[in-house]
Amino acid sequence: METSRIALPIGTALDRFIKNNQDQFQYTSGELSQLLRDIALASKVVNREINKAGLIDIMGAMGSQNSGGEQQQKLDVLANIRFTRALSKGGEVCALISEETESYVDLNNHGKYVIAIDPLDGSSNIDVNVSIGTIFSIYRRKSPIGQAITDRDILQKGEEQVAAGYILYGSSTMLVYTTGHGVNGFTLEPSLGEYVLSHPDMKIPVDGKIYSINEGSSNSFSTSVKAYLQFCKDNGHTARYIGSLVADFHRNLLKGGIYLYPATAKDPNGKLRLMYECNALAFIAEQAGGKGTDGKERILKIQPTSLHQRTPFYVGSANMVEKAESC
Ligand code: AHG
Ligand code: MN
Ligand code: MN
Repeated sequence: METSRIALPIGTALDRFIKNNQDQFQYTSGELSQLLRDIALASKVVNREINKAGLIDIMGAMGSQNSGGEQQQKLDVLANIRFTRALSKGGEVCALISEETESYVDLNNHGKYVIAIDPLDGSSNIDVNVSIGTIFSIYRRKSPIGQAITDRDILQKGEEQVAAGYILYGSSTMLVYTTGHGVNGFTLEPSLGEYVLSHPDMKIPVDGKIYSINEGSSNSFSTSVKAYLQFCKDNGHTARYIGSLVADFHRNLLKGGIYLYPATAKDPNGKLRLMYECNALAFIAEQAGGKGTDGKERILKIQPTSLHQRTPFYVGSANMVEKAESC
């Protein structure tokens, strides 16, 4: 089947691209394609809401907390509702893991897929008109269709992902995803409301000069992280940190760089969540020729033991991640 596929040109609509590449999936019943379309559609709705921030009353805190005990923003909650609704409709998803819900959400027992999602990433940037994102991972369920969901379905290693991606609500809105056959980026053409292929077969430069880390926490970094940061400074690197993981990752993917979120005194296991932040980006990084580790092992090899587990995270250009690890 591989031979029937042709490389589609820049400007190809996302729907056509997904259809054209459907035969790359091991299980080609079209459900995964439908899931990607559902996510794309929900992201357009979220994009519309985000663009209204400042005009209507959707900025600021909800007054409630998420799974990690952090303040939920109104848009966090709204994005979670939009994606949950979109993913419930088609019946392809049996369970949804979200940053915004303590336990996973049981959807259709006959669904074949498990999704982990950070509906809105970088929520501290919502109120200040700075780029934010959505991150998602898609897995096949392990238990037989129709039976109750088990931990084996939910707590899968990142290497089991069948697809992963992110949406970046930035100066333009982009959807970047992989199904394990390279990484492709689509830009939302706002007047058409269509994602079109703008970044085919994305590759991260093997080396880069950008390092992205919240250096405000540097007093509590390990000596090895401090040593790596010193190396960056001694070697003419430049610091860029937005504080939205998706945006920082995306810039480094295009330009070459490393994103670091190590263990700190406040977050001894790091701050970022393995299941709906790190796994997807590590998968994309690897598919683009880069690396993602926790400082010791590949992120994709880590066996999750709980839904909201955190991990230190080093991701980006291969040589930079290797150098950070060697420190
Ligand atoms: P979220 O908004 O989904 O909770 O994620 C925030 C994350 C991530 O986007 C970002 O890179 C990181 O938190 C920033 O943390 P610091 O403010 O500690 O730098
Ligand atoms: Mn996040
Ligand atoms: Mn979030």
